[in-house]
Amino acid sequence: MKRVFNFSAGPSTLPLEVLNEVQKDLVCYKDTGMSVMEMSHRSKMFDDIIEGAKASLKSLMNIPDDYTILFLQGGASTQFAMTALNLMQGKTAYYVNTGVFAGKALTEAKRLGDAKEFASSKSVNFSHIPKVDTSLLPTDAAYLHITTNNTIVGTQYNEIPDTNNVPLVADMSSNIIGKDYDTSKFSLIYAGAQKNIAPAGLTVVIINNDLLGSAAQGTPAMLDYKIHADKDSMYNTPPCWPIYISSLVFKWVEAQGGVAAIEKKNIKKANLVYDAINSFDLYKGVADVGSRSIMNVTFTLPNDELTNQFVQDAAAIDLVNVRGHRSVGGIRTCLYNAMPYEGVQRLANFMADFAKKNG
Ligand SMILES: Cc1ncc(COP(=O)(O)O)c(C=O)c1O
Repeated sequence: MKRVFNFSAGPSTLPLEVLNEVQKDLVCYKDTGMSVMEMSHRSKMFDDIIEGAKASLKSLMNIPDDYTILFLQGGASTQFAMTALNLMQGKTAYYVNTGVFAGKALTEAKRLGDAKEFASSKSVNFSHIPKVDTSLLPTDAAYLHITTNNTIVGTQYNEIPDTNNVPLVADMSSNIIGKDYDTSKFSLIYAGAQKNIAPAGLTVVIINNDLLGSAAQGTPAMLDYKIHADKDSMYNTPPCWPIYISSLVFKWVEAQGGVAAIEKKNIKKANLVYDAINSFDLYKGVADVGSRSIMNVTFTLPNDELTNQFVQDAAAIDLVNVRGHRSVGGIRTCLYNAMPYEGVQRLANFMADFAKKNG
């Protein structure tokens, strides 16, 4: 069996221990004689799986009791609309524009109501997280939306803005359970699962119960948080298979010591790559030092020829999917929770060798 080190932005690498467990249970889950893929979402067996997954996530993220965890479909992109439909209530929503996905969230909200850009780093190609001066945030704002990690350019929030009781909404798709944030600072968190949690198909939403029940008139049932909350994520068939895998990934994160412990490991991994960027003139980091992401490390080489050579030579030693997003170019290495230290070590060694040969 061949396994490579897969630096893909998402869907991305899953823990090998989890894949092995899935393989063991693929055809027959716990003496049921069937796969989880074939199981009714209303069965006792699946209920144990989904409730176990919620309990693990609650404990991993220290989610307070007055929050509801929802396992939905539609990806983070559906949340761009859902947040606006459920929380705007005729008021103005404010968005911090830190990259492509933050911009998409804002554009979607503008289709549905009054949404404004609150801060932006667009003029410098999103190379840092802009200053978010919440003293300028109107107290009657519907909410402030941030993207805690910007997958394409490779920036992250280190400080979470204090919004003085204005609900804080976060797209945490690319660093949920990879960086330890204080969940109670957020009124709503959403994340596509396909980076740190599970295969594609699951969207996790964590919502303060005070925000349930305020959807705009005419909101389709599938887009109303309260309807999903009232039905325990079973209003319709939930994404059973990725939920099952999320339950295993959450257990795996617990076994690694939890989110704070895994963040420490992630910092160590990211530093291997940032140290290589700092050490060789061939590489130029895309993100400003103070905003550098520990999940998505981005850098450029002097020209396309060297970039292509880097991608090709890396793949030859099983370091795959390192090409940067087309809007940024260069290289992007995604170091999500499941990327082993050994893979990043190999990458850092390769970067040193490549720089010595081509610098
Ligand atoms: C930060 C962020 N938000 C949103 C999205 C879009 O997610 P989805 O494809 O689940 O709609 C992505 C996808 O990579 C992302 O990285």
